[in-house]
Amino acid sequence: MASRFRNLFFHHLLHLLLLLCLPSLAAASARVPAIIVFGDSTVDAGNNNQIKTVLKSNFSPYGRDIYPHSLISCCCLPSSILYNVSLPKTHHLLKALHNLRRLPHAPMASRFRNLFFHHLLHLLLLLCLPSLAAASARVPATPLSSSATLPWTPATTTRSRRPYGRDIAGGRPTGRFCNGRLATDFISEALGLPPLVPAYLDPDYGIKDFAQGVCFASAGTGLDNATSDVLSVIPVWQEVEYFKEYRRRLGRHVGKARAMHIIREAVYIVSIGTNDFLENYYSYVTGRFREFKVEEFEDFLIDRAADFLTAIYTLGARKISFTSLGAMGCLPLERTTNVLHGGDCIEEYNKVARDFNVKLQALIHRLCSSLPGLKLRYAPVYDGLLRIIQNPSAYGE
Ligand SMILES: *[C@@H]1O[C@H](CO)[C@@H](O)[C@H](O)[C@H]1NC(C)=O
Repeated sequence: MASRFRNLFFHHLLHLLLLLCLPSLAAASARVPAIIVFGDSTVDAGNNNQIKTVLKSNFSPYGRDIYPHSLISCCCLPSSILYNVSLPKTHHLLKALHNLRRLPHAPMASRFRNLFFHHLLHLLLLLCLPSLAAASARVPATPLSSSATLPWTPATTTRSRRPYGRDIAGGRPTGRFCNGRLATDFISEALGLPPLVPAYLDPDYGIKDFAQGVCFASAGTGLDNATSDVLSVIPVWQEVEYFKEYRRRLGRHVGKARAMHIIREAVYIVSIGTNDFLENYYSYVTGRFREFKVEEFEDFLIDRAADFLTAIYTLGARKISFTSLGAMGCLPLERTTNVLHGGDCIEEYNKVARDFNVKLQALIHRLCSSLPGLKLRYAPVYDGLLRIIQNPSAYGE
């Protein structure tokens, strides 16, 4: 099992980096002054630690591989990794890897290779997090069984098992939903910015740090206000409010002109939407399923995405990467609960993701033609990862 995943993981990492870096890098001109992040658990750097919610990751084994003063911190796969990856053609991959290596402090592939096992565990953990958390008071650690079925047991039993605890002392659970750094942290580093993008609510950081990068994301949130209510996390409108406050603080810190420059030239990464379906619509706790047919709910969310993007555009954001939905029917929890069909992916959810993505692309075109100067990019992640899930041996051994 482990060896099967070694190369797979490596692919994931590369593709993730490529996927998330390249659009942003391409959108960026010569120099990017800052990276600014909005969204959910895929990119939350610890904001949830500072609010009243059960959806936190401030305990071991989270953060185990975070070594802020060393480049050896390994990559964390955000909860979307199993679907947050596109597979570029090999020559694109090599070229991009080559380019990444030339960037200052670019993460080197070899450093990650042996760490795949952690990632796999955390990957699995992460993948089922949003839905699991909805049903449990505290998010449990996940034993490695198989990628297709993911039973879970309380952390106390799994923690005594290897590889949990292997290097606990070195790690610091920062509130990232992973063992190490998030994709956005790697992107920041690849852009020549600091190796960690700090959470806006983290009291260990201040406006001086945020001038180069800031994360407003909150695990468990969504485009719909009702989604963030489920686990009392930060609604997306509140992320925008924090962004407004940030602009004011930045103006006081570096001066108005410089602040406006940072806001305009920064790269924005948005990763949000899965929770709207899995935690909200299909979990039947919010009543949205009675209010809307699923197609109508997709349209409703697209309108909310438009509101959000227009709001940050109005506040000065220009270079924005918006991540598509992935094959959310293939998340381990969804497959585990798909008992009737032997643990297969839930095709209905995947279809919803595809339909949503089509609408999202249309929205992006619309906004790019109506909002002057906007460089909004769609980061497609559905197909590539689904291919890996369906045919892992083609990408591994
Ligand atoms: C979400 O909540 C905020 C704050 O209460 C409100 O301003 C906004 O209109 C709400 N959005 C929708 C679509 O209801």
